[in-house]
Amino acid sequence: MNERLKQLREEYAARVAQAADIEALEKYKVALLGRKGALTEILRGLSSLPIEERRTAGEAANKLRAEMEALIDAKTQELRVKALSHELTKSKVEISPLFAFPFPQGHYHPLRQTIDTICNIFRTLGFNLEVGPEIETDWYNFEALNIPKDHPARDTQDTFYIEGGNGRLLRTHTSPVQCHVMEKQQPPLRVIVPGRVFRNEATDASHSAIFHQVEGLAVDRHVTFADLKGIITLFVSRMFGSKLKLRFRPSHFQFTEPSAEVDVQCVMCGGRGCRVCKGSGWLEMLGCGMVHPNVFRAVNYDPEIYTGFAFGIGVERFAMIQYDVDDMRLFYENNLKFLRQF
Ligand code: PHE
Repeated sequence: MNERLKQLREEYAARVAQAADIEALEKYKVALLGRKGALTEILRGLSSLPIEERRTAGEAANKLRAEMEALIDAKTQELRVKALSHELTKSKVEISPLFAFPFPQGHYHPLRQTIDTICNIFRTLGFNLEVGPEIETDWYNFEALNIPKDHPARDTQDTFYIEGGNGRLLRTHTSPVQCHVMEKQQPPLRVIVPGRVFRNEATDASHSAIFHQVEGLAVDRHVTFADLKGIITLFVSRMFGSKLKLRFRPSHFQFTEPSAEVDVQCVMCGGRGCRVCKGSGWLEMLGCGMVHPNVFRAVNYDPEIYTGFAFGIGVERFAMIQYDVDDMRLFYENNLKFLRQF
């Protein structure tokens, strides 16, 4: 019996020592210590030995088992470390510079922040966000908005026409999106539409050929001018605080009747008069009005059944007031010293 155990120890100690990988090691372990392993068989056969032999043989066999288990565990550990270090040298991942210096955190452009602030206020009031194309047809930009060909109102919008574009143009306002939305959806509807618009204008501190508007439109049965006033008042108080007074001035747009322009008490001086409001105490905020029946007709809504209001907000104006910026051009120059202030 001792002879047999000695033989097993020699044989398996050599095999374990030379095992090339964990799989090979596992095979030897099973062959020696598994359910049908060589040593297991011996332990099982002990009961057939004479009683005096059984004890010493049992002790020797159990000792060998513990010894072999330890040997295999140690080798397993060794092979694991080897495999890992091989893996690490093979795949070259240079991780040291990843956190070596801080990257400056970016943020949205101030105009984008203003657009988001405006749209989010209206979204909490149940308006859905929509967008429309920047290249428009004459129909959507003018005709459907009750601005017929040769109408003098066209002169107020210095339009960029696209060369060879078959009458296509760069939209001069976001109002054409009103018509796109109404063609797709039936009332009741409430939408808020941010967008870029274009006018053939000389650039100065308060004018730019490319600027941004946010259009609003609500259509349903029984919508009144009081609804428009309520929504605009709520919006301005959420945007600039509730202490400032509003003023609805009669105005004219072809696509709304009646029309109004809304002034708010100067957010800088509270109405006393300052540089920003040029001493008047008021700031012009937006244009608005009740949707003209001809606009409803152009999109096949029945003006006898539905009424609605629309408004258009100039984003740059808002941003200039919000951030106390006195030259619109600063928003487009991408000067980091300027942009990093927001
Ligand atoms: N589209 C108008 C403009 O660009 C603003 C406006 C929108 C007025 C909606 C009334 C209703 O000046």
